[in-house]
Amino acid sequence: MPRVLSVVSQKGGVGKTTTAINLAAALARIGMKTLLVDADPQGSVRYGLGLNSGTTRIGLSDFISGTLDLADVVRATPLPWLRVVPAGGVTDSMTQDTYYRELAESPRTRELFDRARERGYTVIVDTPPGLGPVVHRVLACSQRVLVPLQCEPLALQTTAQILRGIRGALAENPELVMEGILLTMMDANNPASERVASYVREQLPAGLVLDVAVPRTAGSVEAFAAGQPIVLRDPEDPAAVAYRALAERLAPHLE
Ligand SMILES: Nc1ncnc2c1ncn2[C@@H]1O[C@H](COP(=O)(O)OP(=O)(O)OP(=O)(O)O)[C@@H](O)[C@H]1O
Ligand SMILES: [Mg+2]
Repeated sequence: MPRVLSVVSQKGGVGKTTTAINLAAALARIGMKTLLVDADPQGSVRYGLGLNSGTTRIGLSDFISGTLDLADVVRATPLPWLRVVPAGGVTDSMTQDTYYRELAESPRTRELFDRARERGYTVIVDTPPGLGPVVHRVLACSQRVLVPLQCEPLALQTTAQILRGIRGALAENPELVMEGILLTMMDANNPASERVASYVREQLPAGLVLDVAVPRTAGSVEAFAAGQPIVLRDPEDPAAVAYRALAERLAPHLE
């Protein structure tokens, strides 16, 4: 059966959403039936995929609360093999506390992943920063986890914490496998960024940090603002090339 991969990190702003969107689009681009699920109530996936237009904001929160069925919350995208479940009207219809509680406790969370997998979808999940109850729950329902790590000087300080959290999730969910750490926003013109990358590779156990690293590019920022994954907008942009290589590498683990 296809698998669920969640993108998680202790820190905010490290490229989780960018990674989830581009990995999902890159997998769909090579013909894998992919469902991207936004489990972050900030709902950034919607912007990154240009789904912001339209009238109602329906999505995951409406499915979890039982208001809508799966078919009602799955949206088509310009890519035939990519479907998306946006976060939903979290801020409109319920408080974030209720959303967090329902997502963390409701059997519908697992049901959504199971039903998508039964229909042949590989599922990529974007999550809120940190290791709170939502991420805990998503990891309990995942088979793979990917951890983006931004190439900046404080990177390693938060890494120990996230790795402890992941170890806890691995202990609780025997199905879960750590895909590795993905270095993001590598700055080719900044020696500090290169130093962080080599330091991280030296300090962490061999094989934990993926060979593919995502460079910081102006195109990535423009693509997000334009509501298009960079892998579709400009497949030759260096960040897009990295996300496409990541998809090629992970695809065999996800179907
Ligand atoms: N490769 C890249 N090159 C340039 N900018 C990038 C790249 N990846 C991400 N960014 C930018 O960095 C910012 C944070 O990225 P993103 O929203 O993906 O992080 P996040 O971990 O999902 O954040 P949050 O924790 O708030 O959900 C965004 O403005 C995004 O456009
Ligand atoms: Mg995000």
